[in-house]
Amino acid sequence: MTSFRIPAFDLRRQHGELAGPLAEAAAEVLRSGQMILGPRVEALERAVARLCGTAFAVGVANGTDGLYLALRAVGVGPGDDVVTTSFSFVATATSIVRAGARPVFADVDPRTLNVGPEQIEAALTPATRAVVVVHLYGNPAPMGPIVELARRRGLRVVEDMAQAIGASYEGRPVGSFGDAAVISFYPTKNLGGCGDGGMVVTSSADVAERVRMLRNSGQRRRYVCEDAWGINSRLDELQAALLWVKLQHLERWTRRRRELAHRYVERLVGLPVEPVAETRGGRSVYHQFTVRAPRRDELVRHLAEQGIGSTVYYPVPLHRQPGLESVSLVPAGAPQAERAAGEVLSLPMFPELAPEEVDEVAAAIRAFYR
Ligand SMILES: Cc1ncc(COP(=O)(O)O)c(C=O)c1O
Repeated sequence: MTSFRIPAFDLRRQHGELAGPLAEAAAEVLRSGQMILGPRVEALERAVARLCGTAFAVGVANGTDGLYLALRAVGVGPGDDVVTTSFSFVATATSIVRAGARPVFADVDPRTLNVGPEQIEAALTPATRAVVVVHLYGNPAPMGPIVELARRRGLRVVEDMAQAIGASYEGRPVGSFGDAAVISFYPTKNLGGCGDGGMVVTSSADVAERVRMLRNSGQRRRYVCEDAWGINSRLDELQAALLWVKLQHLERWTRRRRELAHRYVERLVGLPVEPVAETRGGRSVYHQFTVRAPRRDELVRHLAEQGIGSTVYYPVPLHRQPGLESVSLVPAGAPQAERAAGEVLSLPMFPELAPEEVDEVAAAIRAFYR
């Protein structure tokens, strides 16, 4: 990590504050001798299911595996099309390919950069079996109308909530709308472990059971493989114990992120940068605070010169990825995603960021456009 005076993200501040409890939790796991899929994973599964408003949660090795497992568990496979956003992290699409299906990319809403029902509808093909909806930057997609569309068309819905734990739409937690939803505990996420981790949440006993079987090499019973699509994707006790410590702070951290985001919005008023809008009826958890910025790449350099970190999520839309072009489809084009890829910039955002640091970032942006 380049050491910026105001970094885009800094885990050292959080780990400094929680050093004692994290070390104690890790020591307890070492003393227990139980390393993979034990009581700490089960306790975390129950707590995360409660948080997401679902009946079940299944710990897995990372969010990418979680997407694959969720897709297979809801019945996606070879011959199926899966409609998803053209503007996300690549794992959203590679997981669809890995499940045997074809990603079909929808364009995004230019205000929120999420897909809505119109964009999904425009991308539907006769072979569409499921939709993967991403809550990008922690901002919920409009799940009410999306679920309504999916019901009408007989489609399965998987929520990619890798960036959005704790977010809600019309008062209901994300993760509780789809047939299954997937969380990432990658260290930079709002609830990040100290290594890789992930979880699939669902209210379907059948889907939960299938994910449990598939994450364990297709075994329900030891040494009996029922499904060749099974993989090894288990969450370990060390991650679960560390995540448990952090989970106790998540709602406070989310409130803090929201305060910082509102401060950014206030401080950026009147400048040519345009913050990505929070979905109407939604509560974003601001995994990122992202703006669209004219002369974006020059702005990145200007901020870096001032000691300020920033990140482009994402410079290349999914339908332009070299590894995905030949295995996917983009039936209605994705001009909004392409425009966004050239304009988006995520500014420093993490709960330990000081309000004065937000002011400094905004002042540096103001100076750039003067
Ligand atoms: C939108 C999105 N989907 C999927 C993933 C994959 O999660 P992981 O890194 O835990 O495999 C990530 C994060 O990396 C993500 O941001």
